Amino acid sequence: KNETMKFPEGFLWGGATAANQLEGGFGEGGKGLSTADVLPGGKQRLTLLKSIGFDFEIDKDKYTYPNHEAIDFYHRYKEDIALFAEMGFKCYRMSIAWTRIFPDGNEQEPNEAGLAFYDSVFDELHKYGIEPVVTISHYEMPIHLVKEYGGWKSREVVGFFERYARVLFNRYKNKVKYWLTFNEINISFEMPIQGFGFAIQNEEDKYQTTFQAFHHQFVASSLAVKACHEIIPDAKIGCMILYLPTYPYDCNPENVLFAKQESRFFNNFCADVQVRGEYPAFIQRYFKEHNIEIEVQPGDLELLKQYPVDFISFSYYMSRTEKKEKSPEEIMQGNGLGGVRNPFLKTSEWGWEIDPIGLRITLNEFYDRYQKPLFVVENGLGANDKVEEDGSIHDDYRIDYIRDHIKQMREAIEDGVELMGYTPWGCIDLVSASTGEMSKRYGFIYVDKHDDGGGTFDRKKKKSFFWYKDVIATNGAEL
Ligand code: BG6
Repeated sequence: KNETMKFPEGFLWGGATAANQLEGGFGEGGKGLSTADVLPGGKQRLTLLKSIGFDFEIDKDKYTYPNHEAIDFYHRYKEDIALFAEMGFKCYRMSIAWTRIFPDGNEQEPNEAGLAFYDSVFDELHKYGIEPVVTISHYEMPIHLVKEYGGWKSREVVGFFERYARVLFNRYKNKVKYWLTFNEINISFEMPIQGFGFAIQNEEDKYQTTFQAFHHQFVASSLAVKACHEIIPDAKIGCMILYLPTYPYDCNPENVLFAKQESRFFNNFCADVQVRGEYPAFIQRYFKEHNIEIEVQPGDLELLKQYPVDFISFSYYMSRTEKKEKSPEEIMQGNGLGGVRNPFLKTSEWGWEIDPIGLRITLNEFYDRYQKPLFVVENGLGANDKVEEDGSIHDDYRIDYIRDHIKQMREAIEDGVELMGYTPWGCIDLVSASTGEMSKRYGFIYVDKHDDGGGTFDRKKKKSFFWYKDVIATNGAEL
């Protein structure tokens, strides 16, 4: 054992999921229709997510909708939580489906069956001493708010979100002490359908609309921070950023500057507002140069300043390499987030570049800029797994991926970064967010469910399950 590789006492080891990708339970317990329910399965989802004018309708003649059934956590949560407990999870990151609590989003009163479901989930977690880490909004919102209000384009949605958040804090104040506002808030620069609940209708007005919707989410986030601190004084609430450390392709200063600017825009803009409580100067310059004028109501800027988040959570899967002038053929395919190919890195089967050192860079960049506690709430490898005849699954590639990233977290802690915990993504196989596939598996637990909708839903422990259990038991000393 390498004692020097231990993590701090109380480090929150666990795993992460999102309601729409694992619960299923479509329409059950009074659940309303959400944006996740209208997203089809298969690789075309990625194209749709980036498309202009998506209509948020279900068309069963054309597509399948894997999120409707997902992995049926809605009925199997006890079995799944028992498996998390067996791995020794200290925490479990999950999200609440807004449509279970407010099926249309704008009701006056919440739906009791939805609230009761999450009560049972939290009770089950606490039975094993697992701390819930709860995302209030993970890639979904009521379709009614999309159709009637245009999603986060509308200022009115701020009030509906605040009501939803307050209901959650009041109901679960004794059960949930870690909260996250919007999952990967900055993803909406690339894929607004999941984050904002609207599709860009017109390229010209893309940034005006995008920044207005961000402003509404920032105000909503501050209102949630305020409510959370009032209602649960001993809770902590964080933002959630998709971080892509951005490398210049070479040492040409043009490319170095371009990579820095891209990084500030994508990685730092939202965090600057949510953590420092103000719009950064580089964005104000951008607004001026692009004639963007967002509507800010009196009191908004004071609210942002007064209620920043307590900590920063983020997802890390890959880095990005940028160059100012690039031909369309050079643009990275697969990850949906652009950049050019980095010749030093291997990619996953889905074309995501694997870069453990990038995680150390990310942790240091975040900490240097904000000096706030950090929480890695997503990281992992989406891969095709093979079930052997005896039922075993030898996912050594996943173990290697996670081990290499854990080592870099340890290095970052040595660098002085304050790190709260680590929750690898999709600790149990679930529906992929970007492609709707089941075959893109991240789990320590295999779920017998397939892209064609077939499968028994049986759960199986992969080799990584036993490995991760040891990692947690030794607090990271044994990798
Ligand atoms: C993050 C999301 O983008 O990455 C998750 O917060 C998502 O919801 C995860 O599932 C992995 O992406 P994908 O597309 O492989 O499921």
